[in-house]
Parts: sequence; C-alpha cells; structure tokens
Amino acid sequence: MAQVLLENVYKSFPPRKGESIASHSQAPLTLTSGDNNDLNAHLAHKVNVLRRINLTIADGEFMVLVGPSGCGKSTLLRLIAGLEPMTGGNIWVGNNLVNQLPPKARDIAMVFQNYALYPHMTVYDNIAFGLRRRPQGEEKVTKGNNVSHVAENLLVEVTRKLPKGLRYFSVKERAVDEQVRSVAQLLQIETLLNRLPKQLSGGQRQRVALGRAIARNPQVFLMDEPLSNLDAKLRTETRAQIVKLQRQLGTTTIYVTHDQTEAMTMGDRIAILNHGQIQQVAPPLELYNYPANRFVAEFIGSPPMNFIPVEFHSPRLITNGDFRLTLPEYWEKALQKYDGQTLILGIRPEHLTLSVPATKNLPAQVELVENLGNDSYVSTKLKIPDFFGGNFASQTLQVRVPPDRFVRIGEEVWLSLTPEKIHFFDPETELAIFPKNSSPSLPFEK
Ligand SMILES: Nc1ncnc2c1ncn2[C@@H]1O[C@H](COP(=O)(O)OP(=O)(O)OP(=O)(O)O)[C@@H](O)[C@H]1O
Ligand SMILES: [Mg+2]
Repeated sequence: MAQVLLENVYKSFPPRKGESIASHSQAPLTLTSGDNNDLNAHLAHKVNVLRRINLTIADGEFMVLVGPSGCGKSTLLRLIAGLEPMTGGNIWVGNNLVNQLPPKARDIAMVFQNYALYPHMTVYDNIAFGLRRRPQGEEKVTKGNNVSHVAENLLVEVTRKLPKGLRYFSVKERAVDEQVRSVAQLLQIETLLNRLPKQLSGGQRQRVALGRAIARNPQVFLMDEPLSNLDAKLRTETRAQIVKLQRQLGTTTIYVTHDQTEAMTMGDRIAILNHGQIQQVAPPLELYNYPANRFVAEFIGSPPMNFIPVEFHSPRLITNGDFRLTLPEYWEKALQKYDGQTLILGIRPEHLTLSVPATKNLPAQVELVENLGNDSYVSTKLKIPDFFGGNFASQTLQVRVPPDRFVRIGEEVWLSLTPEKIHFFDPETELAIFPKNSSPSLPFEK
C-alpha cells in the first residue's frame, strides 16, 4: 500500500492529422509572441490534455476522479500506470519516483473500462496470468536448482490442462492457486473458474477483471469506469462490492467515472476535473455543500443546481424585477464589494419550495413533471418579464416537490428559496463566494 503523489503533471498530445486548435476548447500552452517557425507552430497547436495536476492520494484512500467526457481522466490514469509518457511533472508511488519506470515495475494494477480479458484463457488463467508472470526472484530460486526449476515449470505447463488430481503443482503454482481461489471466493466467482470470458455475463466479466487486479495484490489500483457496461441494478451492486473490497484490502485506489452518483457514493474524496485541470478536491458532502465554482456546483448533484442572476444591494438585499429578498446577515461582508452589481445566485432543486405569491418568492410556470415515486422533479420557467432586459426570461428552474403534491403542466407557481442554502458565484470568474466561516475547509482561497 502506498501514497500516490502527482506533482505539476502536464500532458500534451501532438495535433492529430487535419485537426486545428480551433477544435479544442483550451488555449495553447506554449505560444510565444513573434514565434512563427514550424516547430513553435507545432508546439502551440499541441492538444493540451492535462495541465498542472497536483494531487495527493493518501495511503489506503479511495479517490474518485470525476469529470465530463474528454476532460482527461483516462489520460491521467494511463500516466500513473506508465502506459503513456508525461509531458512534464512527477509521479511518486510511496517513496519511489516512478516517472521513468515501465508499467510492470510500478506495482500498480489497472482495471479498464472494457475489461480486456484474454479471450482464449479460462477465468482461472486470466486471474492467474499476472501472478505467473512475476519474476522468479519472488520464489527465491537459488543458482543450484535452476535446472530443476526449468523442469518443474515444464511439468506445470504440460499438466496444467489435466484434472486437478493429475496436475503437477510447483511451489509457485501452489501459491498462485491459493491466491486465485481466495480472490474468486471474495468475488463469488468460484463456480466460473473453468469458463472462457465469452461464456460469462457482463457483470461476471467485470468481476473477473477486478479479480485479476486484486490477485496481484498491488500497491495501487487504478480503475477506469469499470462499471460503465453494466445494467443499472448490477452497477449498484458491483459499486457496493468494490467499496467493500477496497475497505477490506486497504489498497490505495483511484477510480475514474463520469457518473456523479458513483463519485458521491464511493469516494473518500472526489477530485473534479474539467478541461484537464483540477477544479476541487474534497470529501463528497463538502463538494456538495461548498462547491468551489459554478462548474463543480453544476456537475455534482442531480438534477443540477439552478442559477439565477440577481442584483445585489448592500448591505444584504438581492433583487430581480419585482423579486426582492433579504439575505442572512453573514453575507454582508463577503458581498460588500458587489454593491450595485450582478451576481450569480445558485440554489439546489431541494432548496426551492412551492409557496405563495410574495415579492420574496419567484414566479414561475410548470413545464415538465417527472414523478420518480419517492420524489417528483418539476421543471419550471421563470416568469419575470423584465429579467435583465429579457435575457434570462427563459431561465429554467428545477424544483423537488413531495410526491403527494400534484402539479399540473402549465400551472403558475411561486418558488421560495431556503435562505441558508443560497450560493453565490462571481459573474466573471464563476468562483464561489463564501460567507466568512461557513465552510469547514475552504477549498479555494480567494
Ligand atoms: N493518443 C491521443 N492523441 C491525441 N489526443 C488524445 C489521445 N488520447 C486522448 N486524447 C484526447 O485527450 C482528451 C482527454 O481524453 P481522455 O480519454 O483522457 O478523456 P476522458 O476524460 O477519459 O473521457 P471519457 O469520459 O470520454 O472516457 C480528449 O480530448 C482526447 O481526444
Ligand atoms: Mg476515459
């Protein structure tokens, strides 16, 4: 088990043929004014996939790496595994700087999205594969018995396909067998050991892939969206199983997903990535309650947080059209400098309530109702006629309502905001504004 430390990690890819920088949303990293020779043009048009990644994953921690498609999650895992060279930075596993080490010397096991099982090998052999490839040193072979060792290996190979009673087990093979069976028991796949991957369901294949990683007993597990091919029920089950296993084994784990529910339920901490940069690293509930910026606020939570532009008037009034709300006192200081300016107000669907007509409530019209059984989510359109010159008149707000509250499409409603649950974001930087002392550990210093 070991801590993993990423220091200023950068990754760029050369531009793909026929592709221009315009197709990427990020600015080039190394464009110097006046440079126009071919090499610099090439450098400037590199695809900068990861930028200045600094992250520490503690020994035994379950870190979830989450972010939208294409933000660089798989690339980061591949850098840690050694499957891809870095453009810059350092990666430490425990006390070892692994930048130059090949994948197999890093003591890291990776589970890929598509399982990558060997199709011609049984489940047993798939799990045993990594163990059998371990260097002989681990079996402490002395010079004198090299010959008998070769003969032994031969016997193992020749008798491998025979029934168990007729097979020859070397010391190493006995250890492998023990390990394979204990992992199979842990993952409840003992009865599948003689099958080929094509004879398994998706969920079973997934467990075999996990088994193969676990059997190696590595210092670090890297898992790249390992559940994405499973149906919803199996996904939930396997999710719980992975978390339980990780707690049992205590192996440092980096788990990639783009599913925010998976991130919230599995991780000790979550690192959110967007456009190749870390946005925030924090335990799940801290991310939910104190998102560092608008991106995090929108990404974590389903349905996402609602955003409404409001005008702020010191000491603590916000307005928009006829809407006027006095904020709790603790906002005074933090918002002082925005007097007379527009702010982005953020409020989660569960912190909006259907209420009565009042200037402190927002008027809206119901557009869509989704009944989930335990809750309903109602999409509404704000009805503030002169909402900043009409720009935001079509703003949609999602509201969670109790399942027994019948809501009709087209109904006019008034939404009240829970004042203590209001978030504010700077309209330019989109960074969260935190009222003093409201967060246990402010992730971003302003
Ligand atoms: N070998 C490569 N050459 C050039 N660009 C690449 C290469 N591999 C990945 N990229 C680009 O790097 C970016 C990040 O890719 P990556 O696979 O890490 O994303 P991801 O976050 O894992 O996305 P997803 O959730 O869809 O799996 C993408 O824009 C991708 O097109
Ligand atoms: Mg990926």
